[in-house]
Amino acid sequence: MSYQQKYQQSIEQPAEFWADAAEAVHWFKKWDKVLDDSRPPFYRWFSGGLTNSCYNALDRHVENGRADQPALIYDSPVTNTVKSFTYRELRDEVARFAGVLAGQGVTKGDRVIIYMPMVPEAVVAMLACARIGAIHSVVFGGFAPNELATRIDDAKPKLMISASCGIEINRVIPYKPLLDAAIELASHVPEKCIILQRPQAQAGLIAGRDLDWTELMAQAQPVDCVPVAATDPLYILYTSGTTGIPKGVVRDNGGHLVALKWSMEYIYGVKPGEVYWAASDVGWVVGHSYIVYAPLFHGCTTILYEGKPVGTPDPGAFWRVISQHKVSVLFTAPTAFRAIKRDDPTGEYVGQYDLSGFRTLFLAGERCDPDTLHWAEDKLNVPVIDHWWQTETGWPIGANFAGLELFPVRPGSAGKPAPGYNIQILDEGGHEAPPNKIGSIVIKLPLPPSCLPTLWNNDDGFVRSYLSVFPGYYTTADAGFKDDDGYLWIMSRTDDIINVAGHRLSTGGMEEVLASHPDVAECAVIGVADELKGEIPLGVVVLKAGVNRTEKEIVDELIRMVRERIGPVASFKVATVVKRLPKTRSGKVLRGTMKKIADGVEYRMPATIDDPVILDEITESLARLGYPHHQ
Ligand code: COA
Ligand code: AMP
Repeated sequence: MSYQQKYQQSIEQPAEFWADAAEAVHWFKKWDKVLDDSRPPFYRWFSGGLTNSCYNALDRHVENGRADQPALIYDSPVTNTVKSFTYRELRDEVARFAGVLAGQGVTKGDRVIIYMPMVPEAVVAMLACARIGAIHSVVFGGFAPNELATRIDDAKPKLMISASCGIEINRVIPYKPLLDAAIELASHVPEKCIILQRPQAQAGLIAGRDLDWTELMAQAQPVDCVPVAATDPLYILYTSGTTGIPKGVVRDNGGHLVALKWSMEYIYGVKPGEVYWAASDVGWVVGHSYIVYAPLFHGCTTILYEGKPVGTPDPGAFWRVISQHKVSVLFTAPTAFRAIKRDDPTGEYVGQYDLSGFRTLFLAGERCDPDTLHWAEDKLNVPVIDHWWQTETGWPIGANFAGLELFPVRPGSAGKPAPGYNIQILDEGGHEAPPNKIGSIVIKLPLPPSCLPTLWNNDDGFVRSYLSVFPGYYTTADAGFKDDDGYLWIMSRTDDIINVAGHRLSTGGMEEVLASHPDVAECAVIGVADELKGEIPLGVVVLKAGVNRTEKEIVDELIRMVRERIGPVASFKVATVVKRLPKTRSGKVLRGTMKKIADGVEYRMPATIDDPVILDEITESLARLGYPHHQ
């Protein structure tokens, strides 16, 4: 079947399309209804069905001939370790850790927060939760205690799982003090914390609350998979919203399982038994879907890489992993390739490794600039596919289809709509925009399987955030267009989210931090273009009258505050003090105009600007910081 036929069927007969896809996974009991549309705008997939995500990831393969195949290869240049787990070994570890959780009273529906570095135990913990129907919520290690505390208060976990430390290139980052600080800040009190002691740092354990991973595992008995409803939550993953409060994206078991399995075959074009590598982090959606769940659902070998594209030890790191473990398909963010290209512009390291088994490179997380795409194509000689998705969807919305039909790549475009996604471009009046005309990118309801059914404990927030701008449609908050041939071009966000090294961050959240500084009267944070990270945040602040401390003193404090409150991952390192912020006559801060000035992009003087002279001052302040860079 061609792409066009599959796509057409998925839109016109979604129930038939997804019922067919659902035959590829294991059900304890099949669904009563493929698409339950009895309570719009809340649609549910496979209602009445019983399944288990851990069973589909592990036990099923152990029982069907893959017991001795590697399921997971942990490759950690930062600790000089390579360790492989067969499907049987991983199943046994997970079953035992599920026994640990059950022994601590964790049962179906309980939440468990996982705050861990890229170690196999993070994957074991996630799958063990899935095994017993507990809902995991993984929090990325680069977030500060305050962010972790917000998530603790929203998810209200019974238990937390963490490690003594993470390792960033050659710096050991103790995690336990961050965990302790977060629990101190939160109102909700988790009953227990299970801590994995890593040899690089020993964490002090709090008697009565903290338990040692290894000791518990030594005594635990394995437990079996618990059948859960297809519509039961598998996990909650918090992602940046437009304020400092993150959104708890809920993922169900059944829809997620079916869509991810489908994507492995048709989008990524991999076969069971092949090696698939997503170079991301388990703290992000890419890590959830394509390090942990999808490759295992599909019977592949997945790589868990604790390292960076450069510096661990050199820009040949990715090529070393691909050749050593015979990786067929790599998925990462364009920023990783920009880092490699910066350190090895001629691709000298590429030639040092045997990449003959490597077939396709997928990039996502931010728009891939054509230069980076061409560089990767040139050096690797394989198709380089930019594809587009969000934490909310859990799998690609726009892609190219390595297992179905590979369209010619158009650099700068994120491919064509994936089956299941009825994507439309709407103008401000809610009318469909003609080809090549930029507008709001929306998805007509119902969303396909795997997409969020709601926000955790917040149905109203779900409707308000995503479904209220254009009734009947999910708003992606991305702007872009379709070209004459139906390719999608994702150009910018329509909210205050920025993408820093493929990480999604809220400038509104950073503004809240800056505004809490005692000397700051007003502030704005904008995302400015950055050669390596795509975008980085830049703060523009106005001080309160009478403050006469130096700009450097205040800016240093602001940088420290964002690092302490949001985390190093925000990469907030530049700010400037100005006398006033540019605003419209109605008081709206002209962030877009400031961004254009910083990026050296031509701009039109906004007709509604309050006082045009302010823009000259902004231009001068930004010039003092070296913006725009290319002048
Ligand atoms: N725990 C603690 N700190 C962390 C962390 C973690 N898990 N992950 C990142 N950090 C810290 C980093 O050490 C860095 O701190 P610094 O400001 O003191 O240097 C900061 O957070 C920013 O990290 P990062 O965005 O990773 O930038 P970097 O300069 O260290 O590396 C790249 C730049 C491009 C090499 C890196 O971003 C990368 O490998 N990206 C790959 C793409 C990716 O993983 N995308 C995810 C979605 S697919
Ligand atoms: P996240 O939820 O962290 O995965 O971030 C999702 C956002 O990243 C999207 O809404 C887009 O703004 C952006 N994004 C992800 N992939 C792409 C891509 N291939 N092209 C353009 N933007 C992308």
